[in-house]
Amino acid sequence: MDMNTFGHFDDSAREFVITRPDTPWPWINYLGTEDFFSLVSNTAGGYCFCRDAKFRRILRYRYNGVPMDAGGRYYYIKEGNTVWNPGWKPCKTPLDRYECRHGMGYTRIVGEKDGLKAELLMFVPIGHRCEVHRLRLTNTGTDPKTVQLYSFAEWCLWNASTDMENFQRNLSTGEVEIEGSVIYHKTEYRERRDHYAFFGANRPFDGFDTDRETFLGMYNGFEAPQQVLAGTSGNTLAHGWSPVASHRFDLTLAPGATEELVFVLGYVENPAEEKFERPGIINKTRARAMMDAFATPAQVDAAFAALRAFWDDLLGRFQVQSDVPELDRTVNIWNQYQCMITFFFSRSASYFESGIGRGMGFRDSNQDLAGIVHMIPDRARQRILDIAATQFPDGGCYHQYQPLTKRGNNDIGGGFNDDPLWLIFGTVAYIRETGDFGILDEQVPFDNKPGTEVSLLEHLKISFRHVTDNLGPHGLPLIGRADWNDCLNLNCFSDNPDESFQTTENKTEGTKAESLMIAGLFVAEGRDFAELLDRIGDPLAKEVRGQVARMEEAVKRHGWDGEWFLRAYDYYGRKIGSAECEEGKVFIESQGWCTMARIGAEEGLCDKALDSAVKYLECEHGLVLNNPAYTHYIKDYGEISSYPEGYKENAGIFCHNNPWVIIGEAMAGRAEDAWRHYRKITPAFCKDQSLRKVEPYVFCQMVAGKDAARPGEGKNSWLTGTAAWTWKAVSEALLGIKPQFDGLLIEPCIPVGSYRIRRRFRDAQYDLTLHLSGNPGVRTFIPYAPGRHTLTLDL
Ligand code: GLC
Ligand code: GLC
Repeated sequence: MDMNTFGHFDDSAREFVITRPDTPWPWINYLGTEDFFSLVSNTAGGYCFCRDAKFRRILRYRYNGVPMDAGGRYYYIKEGNTVWNPGWKPCKTPLDRYECRHGMGYTRIVGEKDGLKAELLMFVPIGHRCEVHRLRLTNTGTDPKTVQLYSFAEWCLWNASTDMENFQRNLSTGEVEIEGSVIYHKTEYRERRDHYAFFGANRPFDGFDTDRETFLGMYNGFEAPQQVLAGTSGNTLAHGWSPVASHRFDLTLAPGATEELVFVLGYVENPAEEKFERPGIINKTRARAMMDAFATPAQVDAAFAALRAFWDDLLGRFQVQSDVPELDRTVNIWNQYQCMITFFFSRSASYFESGIGRGMGFRDSNQDLAGIVHMIPDRARQRILDIAATQFPDGGCYHQYQPLTKRGNNDIGGGFNDDPLWLIFGTVAYIRETGDFGILDEQVPFDNKPGTEVSLLEHLKISFRHVTDNLGPHGLPLIGRADWNDCLNLNCFSDNPDESFQTTENKTEGTKAESLMIAGLFVAEGRDFAELLDRIGDPLAKEVRGQVARMEEAVKRHGWDGEWFLRAYDYYGRKIGSAECEEGKVFIESQGWCTMARIGAEEGLCDKALDSAVKYLECEHGLVLNNPAYTHYIKDYGEISSYPEGYKENAGIFCHNNPWVIIGEAMAGRAEDAWRHYRKITPAFCKDQSLRKVEPYVFCQMVAGKDAARPGEGKNSWLTGTAAWTWKAVSEALLGIKPQFDGLLIEPCIPVGSYRIRRRFRDAQYDLTLHLSGNPGVRTFIPYAPGRHTLTLDL
């Protein structure tokens, strides 16, 4: 067995197949498409929540526990003295066969032991707030089998944050009810909550438990529940302490026989006046209806088919066929899927984000739109309006808002001066995809305060002005608390280790710190904004172009270091990212943004900057963020040098920004460089799964850079702007399908070959065959027209 291989792609099923449970890190998937979501690992670990991972957590999950990834929805099978789980954990009893298939919105785990096969399919059906588990047990042997099957889930007391803290209260609040085979979790329902959860099965059980200590035993972990070891159930009703849910079924299977059970793990909200059936007894009408909806295997099959159809439709909107399978599977399946997941979750809940720290980021959520607008334009529209409603009248922004309330909060600071521009970025992406200029007229408040509404267009104008109102001594944008690089904190000095880098009060007096990343972003987005204004006949276009031209001049005059673009000026007006610096001489963000903005292209600045990126930043696994890495902490720069060399914003391969260089390379017509950079960060091309550690089917935020202890090791998978940006890079810059306000511009920059692309665009479908013979810069414009179009282009 190849010790570096834990699984492989099955493209025809749109699945990744994990063939060993002991992956280098839990390899997870997400279930859910609307507002009920689950995280599920390849050993069935994880949790679910409705709408908000902090305030409506349904299952308890202990982050950073030992061992890793303990807790989930576990099924235990006891035959004689052997107890095992289909997903191997938590008992870790060796299995005769194990396989986990992560697919689009579902996970299927198959475990086999001593002639008993257990197939567990988990998904969140469309239109329901629940996980459905279909468990099929098959006797593959020649003798009859008598086994006991236990389910298990542990309830979280709703607020995932206080659940981990406030035990003097928590341990006296737990309440459950049982009706038929359904276990109801109703903690706090007696007071203000209008929601409860339930875990039910579609047949009568032979025993149950809801008291954790009775089920597990005071001194046992998930791997040794005392009831399972004894083959009994306590039939307990939890009161206070820690409520859980476990069913027991005593089953006998003839040789070849299959038993199929359906479990539903659901969530219900009741209107205030319908909370109770009788005093103290919860109204179960909605839960019963959900149980009824999945009472038979046929109903489950139909719901599963509907889920598959949902994903077929979404992913079918952009499909490529080339002779590079890694490219095809990334574009057709995993990158688009990850874009959807990132859109749903922003940066809130993953195996690296606890679901309680970060809500919906202003800049992150705007960027995420670029990855999904071709699939779910209506939801993109709503997201834009939600984000804009958190803005302040001066164009500044809360850095994040809470998904449950949609209100902005200052928990991770504010005053990041790149934030406002991303609203232009997101809105332009949306209108180019949909042609829906009407969104600009939507009335949107400031800071969610009724009565303050102005049009979305006005929000965009003040976003633009927020930059021009905040220029520094070189005419470059002031950085504020930070720009895209959260860790370049040039106005937030603190000696106090108990203070956060970013929420420490900004220095405002005599502030000079300026950002070349914002300058590039401003030029690129300013051009798009001017074009948008032209389309709607708004005379501001002229002024916008003037400001953009002035910014280009300022960058050429004060932002060019000789071989590359500077990164910033610090609080004292000193250069960052310059040959003059001892460390951190070259940074990626300004090379990416200034080359995407084509600043100084005619003078050769873009080619030089891209050459420098290749020379100083490129390594085996991608482009590092800065070079040389900072080897010691520099207080005036904030968080950046707090990381050891090679990680995160200190010379990690921060995958999110690699596509900026890829796009910059493509805009410069440098197909080979663009393609090489793309392959380095794209997981499907990565051969060493054990080095990379995280899931081989999705991008991660950061891969350890050349200065790290283990270059190539990945961290922080799934929720990252890398998803949307690599999507933009591959679909628009490499394959060259660029949505415009009134059609598609076809301008590929990828090595020679033939590429067949199916692109749905508004209510049209384009079937394109591109024959490329190495002429970057050749472009064709296809005006939008409804209907089906088949075109062959020699470029
Ligand atoms: C994280 C943040 C993102 C930021 C980036 C660089 O990915 O979510 O907002 O731009 O780090 O610091
Ligand atoms: C830290 C991380 C950065 C992230 C930020 C969010 O600074 O290094 O990547 O964006 O936290 O607050």
